[in-house]
Amino acid sequence: MADEKEGSIRRKKAGRSTAEAMAAKQRDISVSEFFAKNKHLLGFDNPRKALLTTVKEAVDNSLDACEEAGIIPEVWVRIDQPQPGRFRVAVQDNGPGIVKKQIPLIFGKLLYGSKFHRLRMSRGQQGIGISAAGMNGMLTTGKPMAILSKISPRSPLHYFLLQVDTRKNAPEIVNGKGEGIDIAAGAKGLQYIKDHSIDWVSHFPADEGAPARELESGTRVTIELTAVYKRGRGSVDEYLEQTAIANPHVTIHWQDPEGNVRTIARSTTELPREAKEIKPHPYGIELGRLITLLSDDRKSTLSSFLTQSFSCVTPAVARKICEAAKLSPRNSSWKVGQGEAERLYQAMQETRIRPPSTDCIVPIGQELLLKGLKAIVPGEFHDSITRPPTVYRGSPFQIEVALAYGGVLQGQKISRDELLERIQQSDARTLRKFLVDSFAGMNGDAADKILQETKLPTRGSPRNLGDPQLTALHQALHAVNTSEGQSMQVYRFANRVPLQFQPGACAITQAVLNTNWRAYGLSQSRGSLPSGPLTLIVHIASVWVPFTSESKEAVASYPEIEKELRLAIQAVGRNLAGFLRKRQAIQAEGNRRTIFLRYLREVAEAVATINKTDPDPVYQQLLRVAKRKTSVADLRLDEFGRAIVAAEQGGDAESVDPAKSESHPPSKRKSKTRPSRAS
Ligand SMILES: Nc1ncnc2c1ncn2[C@@H]1O[C@H](COP(=O)(O)OP(=O)(O)OP(=O)(O)O)[C@@H](O)[C@H]1O
Ligand SMILES: [Mg+2]
Repeated sequence: MADEKEGSIRRKKAGRSTAEAMAAKQRDISVSEFFAKNKHLLGFDNPRKALLTTVKEAVDNSLDACEEAGIIPEVWVRIDQPQPGRFRVAVQDNGPGIVKKQIPLIFGKLLYGSKFHRLRMSRGQQGIGISAAGMNGMLTTGKPMAILSKISPRSPLHYFLLQVDTRKNAPEIVNGKGEGIDIAAGAKGLQYIKDHSIDWVSHFPADEGAPARELESGTRVTIELTAVYKRGRGSVDEYLEQTAIANPHVTIHWQDPEGNVRTIARSTTELPREAKEIKPHPYGIELGRLITLLSDDRKSTLSSFLTQSFSCVTPAVARKICEAAKLSPRNSSWKVGQGEAERLYQAMQETRIRPPSTDCIVPIGQELLLKGLKAIVPGEFHDSITRPPTVYRGSPFQIEVALAYGGVLQGQKISRDELLERIQQSDARTLRKFLVDSFAGMNGDAADKILQETKLPTRGSPRNLGDPQLTALHQALHAVNTSEGQSMQVYRFANRVPLQFQPGACAITQAVLNTNWRAYGLSQSRGSLPSGPLTLIVHIASVWVPFTSESKEAVASYPEIEKELRLAIQAVGRNLAGFLRKRQAIQAEGNRRTIFLRYLREVAEAVATINKTDPDPVYQQLLRVAKRKTSVADLRLDEFGRAIVAAEQGGDAESVDPAKSESHPPSKRKSKTRPSRAS
């Protein structure tokens, strides 16, 4: 019996592979081959997103390069559609340019860059972004990417047509007999560019009356890819608009595939403070990495290895670490064995070392954040907070939050043509779904309200709209106040880059969802965003942003980051609660006054009849008392929710807290559950 079983197992095996046969198939996988197969990990999972990711990788690099070189960034973004389903993305900057020998490696080799091995706040960090975008273009269209770069006014313009050899993860230069081409500086070069139809912006747009200024240096990347261009959520347009919000020092010249040209001009000429590079903190390092660092070091003693490789390790701290690890500070670092390295690692974790200095983080700042927020929504109330920097896994980071209340959804105010275009591009089956999907912040209630106004059926198909119905929908979008039917819009940013995808996987969204907004006077169903005309901007700035994947779309949930997000969100929430309370008090007093006024005339006349006097003076007297008793109704709130007494109501503007008004019944009822107010 047992023999029979064994035999059947053998028989089965015979038809399958053997260790030797498998060994013949086992071989290296190049990083390019891996990512070519796993494009989705890099943000190229669908044609629409592929277009955005290509633009984003190039623009982020341009902004990083300009800022690192201390140049105020000017970026040209142009998308053409050479044939249906195919797009040519060109991004040019006025950055420092790239030296000739580096160009093929940067654009033709995955995992090659200047930012991975350092801890410094920048948009890029992995060294994979732009070469992956070029590779995606090559895989989908077979076309190489075109690079033009120039490092000074008199240096030549380097021109390369490049592709990634995926088997070797190495660049392949297609033009100039595999060497690229150098285009001379000056008029001769400009003529060459013209004759060969090479796209290169050689001059800044001229100010009125002034001659155009020449671009001294810069880089232009052109990638052709299979893609889809659609406006709306997750689009290139949205990315550029949001980039301008978080980067007010940038001017973007944007030409879309339909040929519309738009300039998003900078609102400040001040560059953000330069971000400092730091060394890793001993608390943030893992054992394996420590062992590699130790074996790489070929010249120092343990003491100087520790002080030079890590931040916050002074010679005294290094001595303490070595003492705790029972090692001599004078030992050669590369001779430290596995067991000793483990002891050293343990000692590093147990020794008291001050946290890393956090001046390496450059936040957007409250003022600019508010400015950006107002550009999205001119709400009734604004608030912002920048938390002090802190540390996760040894890496400093900082959270900033800005909140606006009020205002109609910006997206709602679109033109009729744009609305038609969105309808044509949508695959929603019903009008209600179309509205909810196409307008950020619009929930089902708001969509219903709009459709009620148009008298169109909620379940009607958006595809079958006639001209009059389209006009009705367009008008209703502009006319209907959907403030109560909106849910909070959350704009996420990491190192000034907008995060447009995977909100559910992001620590930022989770922190917003986990906040109890009901405590701040808003309505919120379990597990969803709060309702109301609310817009929230959240920015995480860090020397190393922990993204959940290589496509850099969502921030991982480290407990320290979650805590900072929670505290920042709660702070703006508390201030919003204060504003809502005051607004409610003003409304309640207004209602009370209306009731008084309704009966004052009758009361005055009754009193005058009894006293046999003139009713007018009595009426005036009563009116004065009623107004004084309900004076809170006259208050106006400024954009930060502070109450100001308008000059015409008598007296200078002064701060008053209407919620403390003695005659305010609603706030008295609520006061037990009201959270404490932020200072
Ligand atoms: N426009 C540019 N001007 C100057 N240097 C650039 C430009 N674009 C890229 N580089 C250089 O090329 C390197 C590689 O860019 P790439 O986008 O592939 O990676 P990264 O920006 O370092 O990281 P990430 O993968 O996160 O984007 C950069 O680190 C930078 O040094
Ligand atoms: Mg990059």
